[in-house]
Amino acid sequence: EMAEKGGYDHFMIKEIYEEPQVIKDTLSEADKVHEIVKKFKKFDRIYFVACGTSYHASLVGEYLIESQIGIPTEVILASEFEYFQKTLDDHTLVIFLTQSGETADTIKALKIAKQKSETLAIVNVVGSSITREADHVIYTRAGPEISVAATKTYISQLVCIYLLVGYLGENQEILTKLEEVPEYAEELLDSENQIEQIAKKYKDSKDFFYIGRGFNYPTALEGALKLKEITYIHGEGYPAGELKHGPLALIDKNIPVVGILPPGSSYMKTYNNLEEIRARGADMIILGASDDKMIFDIEDKILFDPDIDEILAPLLYIIALQLLAYFISVEKGIDPDKPKNLAKSVTVE
Ligand code: G6P
Repeated sequence: EMAEKGGYDHFMIKEIYEEPQVIKDTLSEADKVHEIVKKFKKFDRIYFVACGTSYHASLVGEYLIESQIGIPTEVILASEFEYFQKTLDDHTLVIFLTQSGETADTIKALKIAKQKSETLAIVNVVGSSITREADHVIYTRAGPEISVAATKTYISQLVCIYLLVGYLGENQEILTKLEEVPEYAEELLDSENQIEQIAKKYKDSKDFFYIGRGFNYPTALEGALKLKEITYIHGEGYPAGELKHGPLALIDKNIPVVGILPPGSSYMKTYNNLEEIRARGADMIILGASDDKMIFDIEDKILFDPDIDEILAPLLYIIALQLLAYFISVEKGIDPDKPKNLAKSVTVE
């Protein structure tokens, strides 16, 4: 097992370090994605169906498609899908995201959906059950993921989604910008030590909030899920603008709040929401651009290249949150690769 970990302490950290390469490998599927997009029948609505981390990647897809292309899109948890089946028709494209291709809830939903609608599966494991059922298959090129908590496979799912959005929406800008992402990911991994220091400071906290808006609301949800899975600390992801409708009552100095604050059109609103939280004494951990002067007095920050705006941020900011959860897990003496009660793939409904 030591050899398989390639010198890393755990599979999870090894897999996080593979992410820049995984982005490159998945980008090499671009032509295949393009071919599939050309084959799609006419549709006027998209459903995404998934569980867990794949559900969060799907949410990024929803925000991208709605805002960049304008096709009505909805994400449905696979275990809830049967309640939505009456709205399926031949003008609906249903996209299934699954790392393993073996999740029982997702397979069941696909069997229902394919009776009435065109289906696309985005899958990591080659030849898995889902790939035999769907009309079209796109493979994410993450390679085998051993750690139970999904990291590099989430990144590869996002790359597929950006490719899909690029070709569906004929958006060359997104496709070009994607080429730069592996380099940004490398840069971020260089700030590992700083993230480890933040982890040491907050490892005994009992609750965390993760706050994001728009494309990065799913980043907040996925960051909180990583924390729950491998540190056993309660973490809650919340849309920045919704906090004032309830959870603000919970905020005090014992709750660290992770604010996802990339540059872009949502910046100022999210900034103001985070200011409200800070005014109530919470410890802030801010993820933002390295040239952002408004956050210079925040002690705990994780900084990114200013060229990474809110649209691309989901692919990169999550890497920092994966590392944060990883280091907290290690600090607490937990084995991040084998969280209690969880399985890599869930084959029961
Ligand atoms: C399990 C895993 C999660 C994963 C989810 C969905 O709960 O522990 O990491 O996100 O299943 O799995 P899938 O293979 O369908 O993406």
